[in-house]
Amino acid sequence: MKGIVCEQPGQFRLVEMEEPAFVPGEAIIRIKRIGICGTDLHAYRGNQPFFQYPRVLGHELAGVIEEVGENTAGFRKGDQVSVIPYLHCGACIACRNGKTNCCTAMRVLGVHKDGGMRELISVPVSLLIKTEGLTLDQAAILEPLSIGAHAVRRAAVRSGETVLVIGAGPIGLGVMAFAKHCGATVIAMDINQERLDYCVRWANVDQTIHALDQPVEQLTAITDGHFPTAVFDATGNARSMTESFRYVAHGGTLVFVGLVKSDITFNDPEFHKREMTLMGSRNATKSDFEHVLEVVRTGRIDADRYVTHRAPFTAMIGQFDNWLKPESQVIKAMVEL
Ligand SMILES: NC(=O)c1ccc[n+]([C@@H]2O[C@H](COP(=O)([O-])OP(=O)(O)OC[C@H]3O[C@@H](n4cnc5c(N)ncnc54)[C@H](O)[C@@H]3O)[C@@H](O)[C@H]2O)c1
Ligand SMILES: [Zn+2]
Ligand SMILES: [Zn+2]
Repeated sequence: MKGIVCEQPGQFRLVEMEEPAFVPGEAIIRIKRIGICGTDLHAYRGNQPFFQYPRVLGHELAGVIEEVGENTAGFRKGDQVSVIPYLHCGACIACRNGKTNCCTAMRVLGVHKDGGMRELISVPVSLLIKTEGLTLDQAAILEPLSIGAHAVRRAAVRSGETVLVIGAGPIGLGVMAFAKHCGATVIAMDINQERLDYCVRWANVDQTIHALDQPVEQLTAITDGHFPTAVFDATGNARSMTESFRYVAHGGTLVFVGLVKSDITFNDPEFHKREMTLMGSRNATKSDFEHVLEVVRTGRIDADRYVTHRAPFTAMIGQFDNWLKPESQVIKAMVEL
């Protein structure tokens, strides 16, 4: 079978690989779609910390079951599925408490272990989601949308609440869409006007703020001085994360969806006077995937327009450099097999 290996930063190679052998408890999936995300782009660029090469990338996966043994979940050959790419241990304190998304021994397909840029992959049956009634594209974007859905669930967003989402990349867009789905009034903030415009068109956000244009004053005006009760930072930018403490209402919640490899400091009186709740949000659980599946199935989130670029499997290598360029305006690139 064919596979694409990222051999070192900047270098993909189409290779002939050995097909996976059937393992009890696992299923062999024929990959049909691979969504490309920031992690893949960083790995290709060589600026993903602690990343080991060679690596088969790809963790936003949809396909069809090629082979599966007896299983209680009722999976059969030919079923269309989405793969939850987070291999968790099932035994650590987080897993035992149902927080498999932050397992102490987390291994993500395509990051810590070879992922889905290949014709066939074997994955534990427990990590499959049946995606009957969804298109393959929709099935492949359950993963990035689940990151946003998980963050919104963490903050327990309620109808009527005013929410600010900073960072209008594919992750922030998912947060916006699910906050809107909860009935919140959503303000999007970014430094990229094209992306802010996209938030209005795609996630139907209520307001946008350019982060360099007096954000505190704009938030004061929009919220009558009350400020958003939930603020999500999905920028991956330390400065934005530091600033975001100032945008939270008294009694409100700040959720760090984006992450940085550095320290974030904050002023305690600003934090304390608000009795602020500060949360991290990492990955997603199976129930987040199932929730996203239902919302996408009923058409309440426009999964189709989330995919902005596409390429057939063997043409992907030639497209990748293009997708790295800001002027290509990629939100989600999709590889088809
Ligand atoms: N929680 C998780 O499990 C999880 C999963 C995947 C990705 N992430 C993280 O989420 C973050 C976002 O991912 P993405 O793929 O959407 O990234 P992205 O780079 O496509 O989007 C980030 C957006 O933030 C904007 N931005 C940057 N600096 C800003 C600033 N100072 N003020 C306002 N906006 C600013 C950028 O213009 C961009 O539109 C990254 O840090 C990524 O590592 C988290
Ligand atoms: Zn991803
Ligand atoms: Zn665990």
